[in-house]
Amino acid sequence: MRQFPSPDVDSPFEVLGIDADADDDEVLEAYRERVKEVHPDQGGSAREFQAVREAYERIEAGYDPDGEMAGPTAPGQQVDQEEQRAVSHRVEYVNYQVLDDFGWELTDDDLFEKAAEADLPIEDYGAFDVDPGDSILEAAENCGFSWPFACRGGACSNCAIALIDGEIPPPTSHVLPPELIDRGIRLSCITTPVTEDTKIVYNVKHLPGVNELLLPASRFEKASTD
Ligand code: FES
Repeated sequence: MRQFPSPDVDSPFEVLGIDADADDDEVLEAYRERVKEVHPDQGGSAREFQAVREAYERIEAGYDPDGEMAGPTAPGQQVDQEEQRAVSHRVEYVNYQVLDDFGWELTDDDLFEKAAEADLPIEDYGAFDVDPGDSILEAAENCGFSWPFACRGGACSNCAIALIDGEIPPPTSHVLPPELIDRGIRLSCITTPVTEDTKIVYNVKHLPGVNELLLPASRFEKASTD
């Protein structure tokens, strides 16, 4: 296994082990590989994992090898983030497996009404609050649910969810292409809702387009893909 760079390595390109002129595909590929190598479940450490995530975010934000990083946080944006931290957000969820079983579609206008009337077990339909600072995946786990995941870093798409109603901003670094973002696909491990009430379908990793991005969960020892 490649040794993690020493703490004084500053270039995010060095952290990912690529040249500074790497194109977007090379950056993404390197990020996905490094996440697998340094994930705590793979013998890495939380510090290494966080450093790799931050390196990818810096490059995505327009890192300038000469010293400056583009895209500083706007003053208004900081206020928004502080306001967001002050409240919980309600997430209503349905398991995609249920749609398969009942012949429902993600595009059904009355999807959640049908789910509410179907007497589904709490694992398949319900709602919980996402506390400030938590991802949707963490909030689900805090409720005792075992939602699919693997890397916890936006690199594998095992935790994909479909946004049905509300708003979940995509983060700066993840593997989803714009077409999937436009279709409402998000990654529960690194996203949180900003609307008071949000509706999602979880367990959508096998949807066309999402399934092409999957990294095998077997690469992450303690991952859950149930
Ligand atoms: S668990 Fe890998 S992208 Fe969310």
